[in-house]
Amino acid sequence: MARAANDTSVPNDLEPFWMPFTANRQFKAQPRLFVEAEGVHYTTSDGRKVLDGTSGLWCCNAGHRRKPIIEAVQRQVEKLDFAPTFQMGHPLSFEFAARLTQMTEGFSQVFFTNSGSEAVDTALKIALAYQRAIGQGTRTRLIGRERGYHGVGFGGISVGGIVSNRKQFGTLLAGVDHLPHTHDLAHNAFTRGEPEWGVHLADELERIVALHDASTIAAVIVEPVAGSTGVLIPPKGYLKRLREICDKHGILLIFDEVITGFGRLGANFASEYFGVKPDLFTTAKGLTNAVVPMGAVFTRDGIYDAFMDAPDGAIELFHGYTYSGHPLACAAGLATLDVYRDEGLFERANDLAPYWQDGVHSLKGRNHVIDIRNLGMVAGIELEGIAGKPTARAFDAFLKCYDKGLLIRTTGDIIALSPPLIVDKSHIDFMIDTVGEVLQTIH
Ligand SMILES: Cc1ncc(COP(=O)(O)O)c(C=O)c1O
Repeated sequence: MARAANDTSVPNDLEPFWMPFTANRQFKAQPRLFVEAEGVHYTTSDGRKVLDGTSGLWCCNAGHRRKPIIEAVQRQVEKLDFAPTFQMGHPLSFEFAARLTQMTEGFSQVFFTNSGSEAVDTALKIALAYQRAIGQGTRTRLIGRERGYHGVGFGGISVGGIVSNRKQFGTLLAGVDHLPHTHDLAHNAFTRGEPEWGVHLADELERIVALHDASTIAAVIVEPVAGSTGVLIPPKGYLKRLREICDKHGILLIFDEVITGFGRLGANFASEYFGVKPDLFTTAKGLTNAVVPMGAVFTRDGIYDAFMDAPDGAIELFHGYTYSGHPLACAAGLATLDVYRDEGLFERANDLAPYWQDGVHSLKGRNHVIDIRNLGMVAGIELEGIAGKPTARAFDAFLKCYDKGLLIRTTGDIIALSPPLIVDKSHIDFMIDTVGEVLQTIH
């Protein structure tokens, strides 16, 4: 790539940064760098515009470099850069928590973290501590799901079910079991929206309860729509059935809404979209439009109260992060919620969803495509893998899309698409056309 002598946009030495979830040697041999962003586009270091078909990493729901958010962060950093939230406070964290609890009924508290992974580990810890606080201290087991992605903390990878994220890291947490995943191409390939087949898979929770006994199980955690594993849409009635079984056995239900929260499905949260209320749910990403990292765990009415019987002056929950409720993150989050509201972005996502659905399903019949699935402003396109070379075909599609000016995300041999909610129909057309062309050229 040609560049001027004074161009500092490309670093000379790529070795010191150990890149996350990246084939480091492959990347560093042929780097792909973004140096600017605006709206739905990134600009590469060689000056090309790339349409962000993945909202960054499912996180820039309002698009990039949004003025009101930038200005709110700038004002805040000039005023109060940091304040501790251990035995001290600052107003914005309370204000932001109050705004968030107003977004959904029945969740009266929010616990702030810095990421989705921390939100997951926090939710699991609150679930265990809550069971203990209500005299159910034998409930120590956590139930996740095969193919689940709950970030990369030890709690998250233990309840998670993506083999490559687990196998390098020893024995993980003890006392974890997993529900089966819900993905079944034989029954559900090319379903638009929620599949008809598969509600019975929730009954596997009864089998797990029968095996371990309910008195040993604290909580079940699932993504309402599994994102990072390749967009798995829950079968009709599945989440409701999980809720019923949890209720029957005194098990807490945790939804991991790190991707599904903040408009991705055209509603505030997936719990609202599906009409199923968990006991706790995790968020991050769209919480601050990713301008400042932050996560948050919402807890339903009564959970916090159960901790408030501790003796006067006692710390009720021994948990928190230096940056829980960081002033800059709260400022970004409050301004982000304003943008979502003022621009009606969740309604916009809801309105665009049928167009999006038709667009992605028009790719049926393209080379290698064995499934297409969608919900809200999310879609997964599953390709048949090359024998003996899993992931290679989708990664090739990723590189070719990037060359053609579109950022997609791939996981295994699945293409995941989730554009910023400010996209218009012409951006969607560009995405579909580009993916379609690329699928015709890859081998
Ligand atoms: C459902 C879910 N949970 C947790 C996480 C982890 O979030 P983070 O990468 O911010 O730690 C992710 C990230 O993609 C996610 O999709």
